[in-house]
Amino acid sequence: MCGIVGYIGMQPASEILLAGLEKLEYRGYDSAGIATVNDHQVNCVRAKGKLHNLRRKLDGEENPAQLGIGHTRWATHGKPEEYNAHPHLDVSGRIAVVQNGIIENYRELRADLQAKGHLFKSDTDTEVIPHLIAECLKVPEPAAPATVTSSPFLEAVRQAVNRLQGAFAIAVIHADYPDELIVARQQAPLSIGFGQGEFFCASDTPALIPHTRAVLTLDNGEMGKLTPLGVELYNFEGDRLKKSPRTLTWNPIVVEKQGFKHFMLKEIYEQPGVVRVCLEAYTNSTWEAGQTTPPVNLDLDPSLYQDLQHIQILACGTSWHAALVGKYLLEQLAGIPTMVQYASEFRYAPAPLMANTLVIGVTQSGETADTLAALAMEQERRANLEPQFSPRLLGITNRPESSLGNLVDNIIDIHAGIEIGVAATKTFVAQVMAFYALALELAYRRHTLPESRIEEILVGLRQLPGQIELVLESQERYIEELAHEFGETQDFIFLGRGINFPIALEGALKLKEISYIHAEGYPAGEMKHGPIALLDAKVPVVAIAMAGSVYDKVLSNAQEAKARDARLIGVTPMDEKEAEETFDDLLPVPVVEELLSPILAVIPLQLLAYHIAARRGLDVDQPRNLAKSVTVE
Ligand code: F6R
Repeated sequence: MCGIVGYIGMQPASEILLAGLEKLEYRGYDSAGIATVNDHQVNCVRAKGKLHNLRRKLDGEENPAQLGIGHTRWATHGKPEEYNAHPHLDVSGRIAVVQNGIIENYRELRADLQAKGHLFKSDTDTEVIPHLIAECLKVPEPAAPATVTSSPFLEAVRQAVNRLQGAFAIAVIHADYPDELIVARQQAPLSIGFGQGEFFCASDTPALIPHTRAVLTLDNGEMGKLTPLGVELYNFEGDRLKKSPRTLTWNPIVVEKQGFKHFMLKEIYEQPGVVRVCLEAYTNSTWEAGQTTPPVNLDLDPSLYQDLQHIQILACGTSWHAALVGKYLLEQLAGIPTMVQYASEFRYAPAPLMANTLVIGVTQSGETADTLAALAMEQERRANLEPQFSPRLLGITNRPESSLGNLVDNIIDIHAGIEIGVAATKTFVAQVMAFYALALELAYRRHTLPESRIEEILVGLRQLPGQIELVLESQERYIEELAHEFGETQDFIFLGRGINFPIALEGALKLKEISYIHAEGYPAGEMKHGPIALLDAKVPVVAIAMAGSVYDKVLSNAQEAKARDARLIGVTPMDEKEAEETFDDLLPVPVVEELLSPILAVIPLQLLAYHIAARRGLDVDQPRNLAKSVTVE
């Protein structure tokens, strides 16, 4: 969370910093700021709210500085006000710092620094860093013999980061060191971009790509000194490191709304294409039962599958919902007992170790701190045990080049293309597609399904893109109209069962994230055990009643809600008489077998959330308090 950028070179820094921050605004947009060094002075400008407020403040200002740092904030410590915006300065105003992460021991450090006379102006954890660096510059600790860092400023930052606890990535400048940009990383992403006589740093590569393809990603416990002449790398102990940048093959994608009012709507419409790309990437399009080549090839290390007995999936938010659909598929198709846990919960109460377990981390961004930490913990817990406990880690992500890609050797790329809307839509569908592929690959290898059944499912999957298109064409106008009727609604309930219970959770999450309406998803059969007390004519109930084993059950549960005067909205198969009689409003989707229905059922729910929020005039693509990549715990 939060995005940081830095520049040192021969060009005016401020426009480069602002352009970089634009690319990182998905990481947070509570405030933004830049600090530059020119003429041995730090010039720091900050603004509350989105980046355009900062741009407005800087408009018309001539700034020739060729060194600077910038930040776009997702508030952790302290309100999203200008006085809490980064960069933060020391007392003298000569040291400026931007940080992404959380400094866990900031209270102790702050008290210690206050006792030494340092005055603080913000409520943030970050502000301790420039003060600490100033203190280290004043009273440097005796350098260890191996310490060969090449400048007092770098050495002071090195000593300061050794006193910080938590996860952080920082960039630091100093008015007295106009040829140095210092960066350091501990558990939060940070990459350095190599140009010709100019160097960049950023939390994520999209901010670097317009300038250079030569990129070096710092590892935990590493820091660097960037000067116009080059980059020196060290670990936090002060040992010099030799590392080379890699060349990014990724192309900068011109991200435009292409006529859509919001990125989220565009991304909803991209879903048929995403499903097609996933099928092409994962499955053999000419495969038929009896063929000797496998139907699915995910190109994973075969040792992951060997004697597999359990699967443990770790994820957060929408990815956790995709994982719940995955659990259903892995258990029902491949017969493997599968547990799904919130990564944030798992970290502090991990399940006892099970043998022969595949641990899967699902994260579209590949940067979610809890998911990464849970996976790293699992890797550590399983290291040096008997072979059956040894770590087998798999990542499912839209960003194979992310921190997840660094941590885990085996990755399923979900090929969704860049997703700008903070609310995940196409990446959710793509994650679910990855689970279909994994479950089918395992079913084939383990002979848990007849090949004819695998073929049947593949045929069904191939029809999904056209069916999603049909839902989009036939439903959007109607859902837009329907959204008008919920202008005053404050609560929604979503019900689903079996493989569509996670879709009820996802429908509720989408609605609350972007419309700020309170919404809850429940397994339909659980409603009578408590949530039914919430129901009255003011609380609409959206029930997902797809053809299959629980269709009649969900209709009965919906009737129970209707008896409490709730307005009933049904996501149902097309042309179902009984559904037409039960629901007040119908969001019909093509008839497919139950196993394939989640991918169709989620589409009208995404559209409903989108249109309710758009109708309320809300910032659909950048909803309040959220960020696309949650890099703090
Ligand atoms: C919901 C949403 C969040 C993310 C969650 C995990 O629309 O976007 O709930 O799903 O923050 O993010 P990733 O998948 O990047 O780990």
